[in-house]
Amino acid sequence: MKIGFVKPDLPRAGAAVVGVWEDCVLTPAARRLDEAADGAIARALAATPRFNGKKGELLEIVAPARPPVSRIILAGLGKPEKADTRTFEELGGALAAQLNRSGEREATVAVDAAPGMPAAAPEAAAALALGAELRSYRFDRYKTKEPPDKKPSLEALAIGTDEPEAAARAYQPRQKAAEAVCFTRDLVSEPGNVIYPETLAAQAQTLEKFGVTVEILDEPAMRQLGMGALLGVAQGSAKPPRLVVMQWRGAGDGPGQPGPLAFVGKGVTFDTGGISIKPAAGMGEMKWDMAGSAVVIGLMRLLAARRARVNAVGVVGLVENMPSGTAQRPGDIVKSMSGQTIEVLNTDAEGRLVLADAMWYCQDRFKPRLMIDLATLTGAVIVALGHYRAGLFANDDELAARLVAAGQAVGEELWRLPLAEAYDRDIDSDAADVKNIASGRAAGSVVAAQFLQRFVKGVPWAHLDIAGTAWSSKDAPTVPKGATAFGLRLLDRLIAEHYEEA
Ligand code: BES
Ligand code: MN
Ligand code: ZN
Repeated sequence: MKIGFVKPDLPRAGAAVVGVWEDCVLTPAARRLDEAADGAIARALAATPRFNGKKGELLEIVAPARPPVSRIILAGLGKPEKADTRTFEELGGALAAQLNRSGEREATVAVDAAPGMPAAAPEAAAALALGAELRSYRFDRYKTKEPPDKKPSLEALAIGTDEPEAAARAYQPRQKAAEAVCFTRDLVSEPGNVIYPETLAAQAQTLEKFGVTVEILDEPAMRQLGMGALLGVAQGSAKPPRLVVMQWRGAGDGPGQPGPLAFVGKGVTFDTGGISIKPAAGMGEMKWDMAGSAVVIGLMRLLAARRARVNAVGVVGLVENMPSGTAQRPGDIVKSMSGQTIEVLNTDAEGRLVLADAMWYCQDRFKPRLMIDLATLTGAVIVALGHYRAGLFANDDELAARLVAAGQAVGEELWRLPLAEAYDRDIDSDAADVKNIASGRAAGSVVAAQFLQRFVKGVPWAHLDIAGTAWSSKDAPTVPKGATAFGLRLLDRLIAEHYEEA
């Protein structure tokens, strides 16, 4: 889909979209179009008492006599004082979905500012474009027989606004964000026979073209470093593990630079559970058990693509968790890079083992100013929060508050869950320093986070458990069903808001 920003003008073809504020207050563009359409909009509103202009409402007038457009779409915008950038992202997404289904090939959307509106007009126009891009994502690479009338139809979206140059400028970083999100969604959507540690590492390596430094550690290198926790998970698979280290140094290396921001991702390219094998039903979902790593890879790509003035490092631990004659057994004791020994009582609690070594390596080598990990870590977080919010754990209240706010701004919401000594006692092992599961099923996500915290050494740290939000079974305004890339825009926003140099 081609997106462009143009001066407001009366559309002569395709779909014409104009906004309507709550209580059916027409925007200036809607008034002009109504005049050109001989009052068709006013008549449609009078005939549709349940259309009120509330946020999310759409009303279509097909084939008006005048002007020569194929359809007019009235888009409810809600109250001006509530129309923030997220409102326009969601509108862009909803419009893209409707237009792509309709067979329409071109559309023009008018975006006007209104008194009291929190989003400036160029930002609103750019946000609408971003929403349309995000919602238009599809993973259809393997569909060889899809009939043309099932494919998305929209080819060109023109956004009419008083300051098209300013809108185009505001769109630049957003377009890069949309590209990074789509890249991450592709990685997450690919099946386990296509994306496994070596091929996912190769995908990460493509970030070099954006200016990211990429290093790939193989199994001997990890053995040398003492990463017995990660390697124990990997040993059942015929696919060798990888650890990928990505660096973006957008703030330079001057003296007095604080340590980098660090992002660590769980990259289990397929999780069978290992010897503690999972049930067959639904196991195919475990192809996306590498979503945390895909978000970290996409984030590093985005920071480089938009030349973010920040130093950041991404570390992803890539393994496949398989049962086999070489697989790790329940009860095995492994030694992590930190020196702590771990009793592996359940081989399906593997993400925390991978992260233990990836996080330790990251802190040991980079001395980051803060560290955030992302992982599809526990089924329990789905029980607790469902699919609309990810679990947040943090040892630092300021970092937690910043993450929650960033999530709200981009529609990737978090809910903080506790960390506390009492839960930590539940993973004391009789045979080793720590065990990878507690004895019962209670508070599974908290227990997993406590395990991770044993591998945090004195840095502000946050853990996002994205097991419930990495994949969606239904469409949302800016996220079609499937891989979401949840966390990518959130972390980009966090960085832009708090950690970039002027
Ligand atoms: N990858 C899973 C968690 C998961 C479950 C993600 C469902 C997405 C959807 C993780 O490796 C796992 O298996 N966790 C176990 C931990 C348990 C053995 C303590 C779980 O949640 O059941
Ligand atoms: Mn597992
Ligand atoms: Zn897993």
